[in-house]
Amino acid sequence: MKTISKISEIRNEIIGWKKNNFVVGLVPTMGALHIGHESLIKQAKDCCDKVVVSIFVNPIQFGPNEDYNIYPRNLEKDQEICKRNGVDIIFHPEPAEIYPENEHLTIVTPPEFYKNKLCGITRAGHFEGVSTVVLKLFNIVQPDKAFFGQKDAQQIVIIKKICRDLNVPVEIVGCPIIRDNDGLAVSSRNQFLSSEARQQALSLHRILQVIVDLYKSGSRQKCEIFTEALKELSDEVELEYLDAYDAETLDILNKLKSNTLVAIAARVGRVRLIDNIVIN
Ligand code: PAF
Repeated sequence: MKTISKISEIRNEIIGWKKNNFVVGLVPTMGALHIGHESLIKQAKDCCDKVVVSIFVNPIQFGPNEDYNIYPRNLEKDQEICKRNGVDIIFHPEPAEIYPENEHLTIVTPPEFYKNKLCGITRAGHFEGVSTVVLKLFNIVQPDKAFFGQKDAQQIVIIKKICRDLNVPVEIVGCPIIRDNDGLAVSSRNQFLSSEARQQALSLHRILQVIVDLYKSGSRQKCEIFTEALKELSDEVELEYLDAYDAETLDILNKLKSNTLVAIAARVGRVRLIDNIVIN
């Protein structure tokens, strides 16, 4: 396994792979790898000949008051995880390699309809930052397939939309949310939770479970279902949003139906967590 930090160097490797008609998979990450990322890598290994994991904490997707500076970084541990899972190349550029010019950067802006809801309500500029870096990574690595976790459901919908609209020839593969035994969706930010905060954070998953149970027992009205489910919200958890969307289009729904994305975001202390479930 190679760790490469220069665009020119990874391009040379990719040119060699393409000559051999290898199917190239990309797992874009910000590092601090966990079992959720491992599941993406495993999926990539299953359906690609060569797998690249990018590790880049992308400054332009963080707001001024967000956690860019303290975002967990641990390249050595990430390298061990990648090696263990048969990754071919880790692409780990410095910010100056990706953004050599600070001014007048071309920004990929997803349509308002997709970005001004869910996490976009409180994270202005976030999806522009994600879309820009993902398109840059696609242009650098030229993968056939790219693998993203369903925990960031809005991110997947937006990236798929950009690929359709801009004719980007990359297949976007969404992979299931991985949960710890207690039900908490794994996230690099979970390490910031104290054991007490972690207990409180579990209410997010409980809320989603109640919603699924009510749906299964025949309820369909969002208001009624959510009122009941929110009884599970721990007092110390500050809800940012809970809503229901068409899982493909992100249309907001008042009645739950099959293929509904129910997504939640909340703050537990200073840690912002998201979770979701697709009802079928
Ligand atoms: O999901 C993430 O970790 C990031 O948003 C991504 C896709 C790697 C872009 O920086």
